[in-house]
Amino acid sequence: MKISALRYHEHGNPSDVLRLDNLELANPGPGEALVALRAAVLHPSDLGLVGGTYGNLRTLPAVAGREGVGEVLAVGPGVKRLALGDRVRLPEEIVLADACLADADSLEKAPADLPLDQAAMAFLNPPTAYRLLQDFGELQPGDWIIQNAANSAVGQCVIGLAKHRGLHTINLARDVAKWTDPLKAMGADAVLADGDDFFKVVDEITGGQKASLGLNSVGGDSVIKMIRSMAESGVVVTFGGMVGDKVRFPTRNLIFDDIVLRGFWMDRWSRQADASARGFMQHAVNDLIRQGVFNMSVSEHFALKDGIAAFEAAQSGGRDGKVIVTGDFSL
Ligand SMILES: NC(=O)c1ccc[n+]([C@@H]2O[C@H](COP(=O)([O-])OP(=O)(O)OC[C@H]3O[C@@H](n4cnc5c(N)ncnc54)[C@H](OP(=O)(O)O)[C@@H]3O)[C@@H](O)[C@H]2O)c1
Repeated sequence: MKISALRYHEHGNPSDVLRLDNLELANPGPGEALVALRAAVLHPSDLGLVGGTYGNLRTLPAVAGREGVGEVLAVGPGVKRLALGDRVRLPEEIVLADACLADADSLEKAPADLPLDQAAMAFLNPPTAYRLLQDFGELQPGDWIIQNAANSAVGQCVIGLAKHRGLHTINLARDVAKWTDPLKAMGADAVLADGDDFFKVVDEITGGQKASLGLNSVGGDSVIKMIRSMAESGVVVTFGGMVGDKVRFPTRNLIFDDIVLRGFWMDRWSRQADASARGFMQHAVNDLIRQGVFNMSVSEHFALKDGIAAFEAAQSGGRDGKVIVTGDFSL
């Protein structure tokens, strides 16, 4: 059968290096399943993979995309655990293609009752938020978290989960006028402009308590001011670098306040965790999506044939939420 796949043959700017290639796909062989793309989400890391700056680069040519869900359209001889119509997570290395062949035993089932967009985004950002609140000290109800890029998908999940657990959040955004009401509706306690000297009002907001946990995915001045907002022995976790510079820190806060700087990478956690820990977490995450605790906003949908435009939209700042790429391939 003929399919299209959004691929890059060299690293570079997505508009320059991405192209829709026509490929031939065989029928599923023994133990294989044919899975059609239904919805995929674009992340900053997708841009890093195409651009050649991400942690784990792929062998070229590579299919773009990292995260999405598909529908099982056919199974090969001997496949028992999947049925036609099942929703599954797409293999991470073959997301933005009409369809792919995969080893049926390695495909992860995805719950059919979750809204399609949220199901497509369930495997990377919500687990990241989950781990960020789980693995960096014992947070107690009433504790404060401060985070930048608070309107990002991870940021929105942090807000929802923190509220759910009785934790308070101070949220930094570039466009504070646009995001104050939506983030407060999700459970944010305070929303402040990242460009301002927000550390000056943290005492007032927290009643002198300051933040126990800082979540930095921006870098630059933002994380320096974040470190100045921390309680004694508070932990600042860097898990992204949207500004693209080195993390710098104010020396006096390290010395006098014993602030701890940590890092986090979901891929590394997933590689090191065993199957039961990964399964337990994904089950918990799916339940939190079901309850609406995780509910990430979406800005635009693009069909796979418009995948390059989707990448251009994902590259632009000031989005209303995530860019989703959809597929409608059938046999
Ligand atoms: N370490 C890990 O395992 C891991 C896992 C998942 C995500 N991440 C990281 O977490 C961050 C958020 O990811 P996401 O998928 O949730 O993002 P997203 O929903 O695509 O949103 C991107 C966010 O980055 C902000 N941003 C973009 N350029 C910026 C700049 N130059 N300065 C300051 N802010 C900027 C955007 O602000 P505007 O809305 O104002 O443009 C927006 O808040 C990214 O850095 C990503 O790489 C890391």
